[in-house]
Amino acid sequence: MGDYDPTSFSDPRVVEIKKITLDWTVDFDSHTISGNVVLQVEVNVDNAKTLSLDTKNLSISSISTKEGSGLKYSLREPHKAFGSALDISLPAELKKGTTLDIQINYSTSPNAGALQWLKPEQTAGKKQPYLFSQCQAIHARSIVPCQDSPSVKAPYYAKVTVKDPLVALMSAVGTGKQSLGDGRTAYTFEQKVPTSSYLIALVVGQLESRDIGPRSRVWSEAKFVEKAAEEFSQTEDFISAGESLVGPYVWGRYDLLVLPPSFPFGGMENPCLTFVTPTLLAGDKSLANVIAHEIAHSWTGNLVTNKTWEHFWLNEGHTVFLERKIVGRLNDEKTRQFQAINGLKDLHGSIEVFGHDNHLTNLVTTLKDVDPDDSFSSVPYEKGHTLLFYLETLLGGPEQFEPFLLAYINKFKYKSLTTEEWKDFLYEHFKDKKAILDSVDWDAWFNKPGMPPVIPDYDKSLGCACNELADKWAKATDLSGFQSSDIKDFKTWQIIDFLGQLILKDPLTPDHISGMDKLYKFSESGNSEIKFRWLRLGIRAKCESAVSPALDMVTEQGRMKFTRPLYRDLGGWDQSRERAIERFKQNKCYMHSTTSMLVEKDLKI
Ligand code: BES
Ligand code: ZN
Repeated sequence: MGDYDPTSFSDPRVVEIKKITLDWTVDFDSHTISGNVVLQVEVNVDNAKTLSLDTKNLSISSISTKEGSGLKYSLREPHKAFGSALDISLPAELKKGTTLDIQINYSTSPNAGALQWLKPEQTAGKKQPYLFSQCQAIHARSIVPCQDSPSVKAPYYAKVTVKDPLVALMSAVGTGKQSLGDGRTAYTFEQKVPTSSYLIALVVGQLESRDIGPRSRVWSEAKFVEKAAEEFSQTEDFISAGESLVGPYVWGRYDLLVLPPSFPFGGMENPCLTFVTPTLLAGDKSLANVIAHEIAHSWTGNLVTNKTWEHFWLNEGHTVFLERKIVGRLNDEKTRQFQAINGLKDLHGSIEVFGHDNHLTNLVTTLKDVDPDDSFSSVPYEKGHTLLFYLETLLGGPEQFEPFLLAYINKFKYKSLTTEEWKDFLYEHFKDKKAILDSVDWDAWFNKPGMPPVIPDYDKSLGCACNELADKWAKATDLSGFQSSDIKDFKTWQIIDFLGQLILKDPLTPDHISGMDKLYKFSESGNSEIKFRWLRLGIRAKCESAVSPALDMVTEQGRMKFTRPLYRDLGGWDQSRERAIERFKQNKCYMHSTTSMLVEKDLKI
C-alpha cells in the first residue's frame, strides 16, 4: 500500500491522472463492461519509472501509449478490500512536466464491487434488465483502472454503448446519442469539472424523465416518474438556497435518478445526477432533506473534497451542516436545530454498535488495512455536524460562521484537503478569535472515540413534545393515559424522533407495542423512516407480530440504513434469528454485494 493514501496503491506525487476518456460497451449477457480507458497522465518527477494504478477484479488485455507502442505491466497480489495494484512501466527518461496518453484495454468482472446487475424481474417494468454503479468509497477501481484516491481529480469523457431500448446516464452532462444501426445506441458524456474517481457513475435501464426545474429533471423507470417529480419538486429551491450560502453551482445540470429498491444508500451525490433510493417516495416530501443533503455535496464533497477517506467527516460533516442550513432557510431555525437533535440519536445508535472506545468512532479515523465499507457509520456525519454547530455558536453565530463556509469553499474548490488544512484555514479566517479557538479541545474532537466532548444547547421547541411522550411511554405500566390525539399535531419528523428516542431506551413490552399501534396506527405508515423505527421497536420489545413485516422490509428494499439495523435486531432475538438467517440466504443473490457483505457480518454468520 502506498504511503500517500492508505486505501489506494497510487501515488499522484510521482505521476498524476489529468484526464480520463472511457469507451465502454455494456453487456447484460456476460454482466461485464468491456472496452478501454485512455488516461492522460502528467509526470511530476524526472525519470518516473512506474505508474501504479488501483484495480479490482479487472481483466487487462493490453496497455500502450496512444501512439501504439506497448507498455509492460504487472498486477500485484490482490488485497481483499483494496484489489490489485497495476504497475505500468513508463517509457524511459520522462522529464518532469511531460504528459502522455496511456490506453488500457480491459473488461470488468461479473462481480465488480461497483456494479449491481438486475434481472428484468427485479425492475418495476419487468421487461428490461438494469445496471447501476456505486463507486464511493473505493469501488471505482472495479470498473476502471485509476488512481482511486479522492485526492486525485480529473475531468472525464465517456462513450457508453448499450442495447436498445436501454438508456445510459452518467455523473456527467449528456452530449448526445448515436444509433449504431445494429440494435445498439452509443451515449456520450462529458464531465468538465475535475472530479474524483469515486464520483464516476453509470446507470443503464429503461429510463424515462420529467423536468422538475430549470436545470433539473427526474429519471426513473416509467412507473415512478410522476411520483418522483412531485416528491422532489423543491429541488430548485434547495439549489438556490445552497448558492446563496456557498456560491455558484458549477456543475451545469442537477438531475435526480430514482433507483430500484436494492440501492444501498439514501442518496449518492454523483455529479449532475444524484442517485436516490425509492424509499424517499413518502408522498408528502417529508424525506426531501436527503435531496438537500445531496445538493449540498455539490460544494462540500464534490467541489471541496476529503484528501483521503480518513478525513471523510470533511465531506459528510460539512454536508449535513449545509443540508440543515438549506432546510432551515426554507423552513425555520427551530426545524434546523430539531434535525440536529434528531441526528444525535443516530450518533448514539452508531456508537452503541461500534462500542464507546472503538477508534472508528473518532472523527478522524485511521484506515490502514480497513475497508471503508466496514467503517461506515453516522459518526462523521453527526459528530462532524456537532463540531461545526458548536463552532458556529462559539464564534458568534451564523453571521460569523456562514462567511467562513463560503470562504472555505472558495479557498479549497477543485481541491482535496486534510483535517489539518481545514483547521489551519479556520485559524486563518478567524485570526482575531485565536483565544476562542484555542479553548476548543481539538484532540478530543478529532482523536477520541465516543460521543462529542460538547453537545450544543439546541433549540428544543419542536423536540419537547416528543421527549415528553417518549418518557411517558417508557415509564407507563398501563396504557390508560394515552390517546390517539397524543400525536395529532406531530409532524413526520416529530414522530420519527419520538420512535427514535424509544429505540434508545429499555425495550417496551408487546402490550405497549400493540396498544401504541391501536392508538397511533404506525404499522399502517407508508413512510420508510417511520416504518423502520416502528419495526425495530417491535422486535426489541420481542413482539412476534413485528417479525414478518420486518422480514418483508429487509426483502423489499435494500437501503443499508434500514436493512442492517433490522437484520441486527432480528438476528439478536432467538425467536427470530433463524428466520432472519433463512431469509438472508434466500435473498442474498438479489441483494447489492456491499449490503450482503455487511449484513453477513451483522448477523455473524
Ligand atoms: N455520500 C453519501 C453516501 C455514501 C457514503 C456512499 C459513503 C458510500 C460511502 C451520501 O451523500 C449520504 O450521505 N447519504 C445519506 C443521506 C443522509 C445523511 C441525508 C444516506 O444514504 O442515507
Ligand atoms: Zn453525504
